[in-house]
Amino acid sequence: MTFRTIDPAGLEWRQIYRLLVGSIVPRPIAWVSSISREGQANLAPFSYFMAITDEPPTIAFSCSPRAGQRKDTLRNVEATGQFVVNVVVDDIAEAMNKTAAEYPAEVNEFQVAGLTPVPSDIVRPPRVAESPVNMECRLNQVVPIGEGSRQHGLVIGEIVLMHLRGTPQTMRQLPPVRDIVPAVRRGLAGSVRRALRAGIRKSRIVLDPGIGFGKTGGQSFELLNGLRRFASLGYPILVGPSRKSFLRAMTSGAATVSERAVSERQESHSVPEELLFGTAAAVTAAILNGAHIVRVHDVREMLSVVRIADRLLA
Ligand SMILES: Cc1cc2nc3c(=O)[nH]c(=O)nc-3n(C[C@H](O)[C@H](O)[C@H](O)COP(=O)(O)O)c2cc1C
Repeated sequence: MTFRTIDPAGLEWRQIYRLLVGSIVPRPIAWVSSISREGQANLAPFSYFMAITDEPPTIAFSCSPRAGQRKDTLRNVEATGQFVVNVVVDDIAEAMNKTAAEYPAEVNEFQVAGLTPVPSDIVRPPRVAESPVNMECRLNQVVPIGEGSRQHGLVIGEIVLMHLRGTPQTMRQLPPVRDIVPAVRRGLAGSVRRALRAGIRKSRIVLDPGIGFGKTGGQSFELLNGLRRFASLGYPILVGPSRKSFLRAMTSGAATVSERAVSERQESHSVPEELLFGTAAAVTAAILNGAHIVRVHDVREMLSVVRIADRLLA
């Protein structure tokens, strides 16, 4: 066995990044919610993350620069001294990926990814309801690492309160609720009531049962099967099963959240064929079960699928 010996001094930062994320796997992801001084909520994932001490309970994550500037998360954490680390599990990996895009500071990533902010008890940034573990943190210190436009901030924070769904042994498998179809129906009915009270016109409302978001794979299938039970609410139904992890789990070998997040970023242009077929099957099922709108990545391919499903219904 021969080793390749690499002196990082001779590499550019992007090559070192690839070496690190390829070598240190799997990596957990800190999904950090923060808030600006003015009260604008922000959410972003960080995989340079770990627990560092238990007394006091302390975690650290590092925030790299973006075009020589500090990212919103680091700005907010420095401004308010507070943040929440939400743990990412398979079912919410896709939503997590959505929050990684480079949005302007005024964009609330909770809204972009369709996530539920829950007020924290001690700190101001909200927690992510769909995550099974939330850690409310107070800033201990930001350690600057690197120079000039490549300076990173290593954020060290003390956990002041933890919220766990289930126990550390079970929370990754625990479904958030038992009977998913009635629970989602109740949630949607409540959202419709709030939207109408807020003056949103009936014709502007579409219902999305949120396949995959904070659900187990089994629950996503239950929702696909039970779509007809949303019809009596009286609004068009939108379903977004495209390339979701519950399909991936059926169509290929399981990967960990962090492997998948990295590979999704690297492979966003090459969709494995079996995932496309899985999406096609789910889209067909959704339409036959009453979906009026489907949200997909692979529009050209799914157009044929939709036409055939529509023809079956005609
Ligand atoms: C899986 C995953 C892991 C990431 N890990 C890090 C990280 O460790 N450090 C970092 O600076 N950015 C990381 N990012 C990128 C940030 O999430 C991204 O730059 C985000 O836009 C920052 O948002 P903000 O400006 O709202 O803070 C990661 C993204 C993904 C999808």
